[in-house]
Amino acid sequence: MSDIRLEINRSLQHKITSQIKQKGSISFAEFMQMALYEPGLGYYSAGLTKLGSSGDFVTAPEMGQLFARCHANCFAEVLPHLSEPIIVELGAGTGQFCVDVLQALDELSSLPERYAIFEVSADLKKVQQEKVAQLPSELSERVVWLDSPPTEFFEGIVFANEVLDALSVEVFQFKEGQFFRLMLIDEKGCLTERWDAFEPLLLTQLQQLDLQLSSGYRSEFIPHLSVWMDSVVGKLNKGLVLMVDYGYGRPAYYHPQRSTGTLVCYQRHQANFNPYQDVGLQDITAFVDFTAVAEAMNDAGLEVVGFTTQAEFLMANKIEQWLDPSGDYQRYFELVSEMKKLVMPDEMGDKFKAIAATKNLSIELTAFKNNRLQDL
Ligand SMILES: C[S@@+](CC[C@H](N)C(=O)[O-])C[C@H]1O[C@@H](n2cnc3c(N)ncnc32)[C@H](O)[C@@H]1O
Repeated sequence: MSDIRLEINRSLQHKITSQIKQKGSISFAEFMQMALYEPGLGYYSAGLTKLGSSGDFVTAPEMGQLFARCHANCFAEVLPHLSEPIIVELGAGTGQFCVDVLQALDELSSLPERYAIFEVSADLKKVQQEKVAQLPSELSERVVWLDSPPTEFFEGIVFANEVLDALSVEVFQFKEGQFFRLMLIDEKGCLTERWDAFEPLLLTQLQQLDLQLSSGYRSEFIPHLSVWMDSVVGKLNKGLVLMVDYGYGRPAYYHPQRSTGTLVCYQRHQANFNPYQDVGLQDITAFVDFTAVAEAMNDAGLEVVGFTTQAEFLMANKIEQWLDPSGDYQRYFELVSEMKKLVMPDEMGDKFKAIAATKNLSIELTAFKNNRLQDL
């Protein structure tokens, strides 16, 4: 392990242990929050390469332009209905989606007034700013960074790709008719798991999921998801909220066969199931319960209008239109292989879903013509 990686790992472990000593114990969600977002040290906050082929995992916008171009087609259906529209992107990663979608919207003559990024990682914000600076000024001048989710009412689109899976989760176990919360304590210098009772607010959130579980069933949920959703979409006066991520509707998410949950870690393109190893150096993530997302959207005053697989979303947005077999064969081959990764069921096509909700907007989105709202 390089010196810098070792230093990040040691300092973060020390910080987590001090936090436990101070409080007696911390929940798994608090641990995950520190492991991913502790300023200067957490996985997303430190300056290590995270996304892309030289990092730990590759997201759809990092594979090429097809994902962003399809989204531009979808956004272009919405933007003309809005006045001075703003696209708000949450968690913009390297800024690749922003750059590609703005260029595609420019080609469609459908640019938003502003493109606002809300990013919690100071390191990624820097990466985004460098990438956006390479755009022609006519496009780069539209991009701004927010220090908080929007605080003023606006019309527009709120978009997030792979942000929900990066939110910290509580881990629970159902045993003899009761829910227990995963806590972490320090035992002789070792991070050790312990199961405690839930505090009332979280217990209510968990009970409202109305799950039928067998004893020993273990899984996750995002605490206070409605509060988070309201904080990011609460000022949307009119427009669309679109979130893409890996996950399932609730019946599949808490399926009896998924009895050990969905938590997974990534380092150098390898998956593992040990969140306590290489703290700060690996991504920790959980699949998304899209029914919970839909409920949070409803709570935030939105109307959920679409839920479908990434494959169907991209196909409906005519992903094949950029594949030209009569042109440069090498380029054609690259695009076909990019498209296969995005839409094939055994790659990202089925695992990833798109959920859409609107506010004060009545519109049929082509992207959701094969709607699967019944899966929520
Ligand atoms: C898995 S990366 C996805 C990045 C990018 N959207 C992409 O598709 O390449 C998760 C991103 O969400 C950001 N993030 C995590 N929690 C967030 C939050 N509460 N609000 C906004 N961004 C957040 C991370 O810093 C990171 O940029």
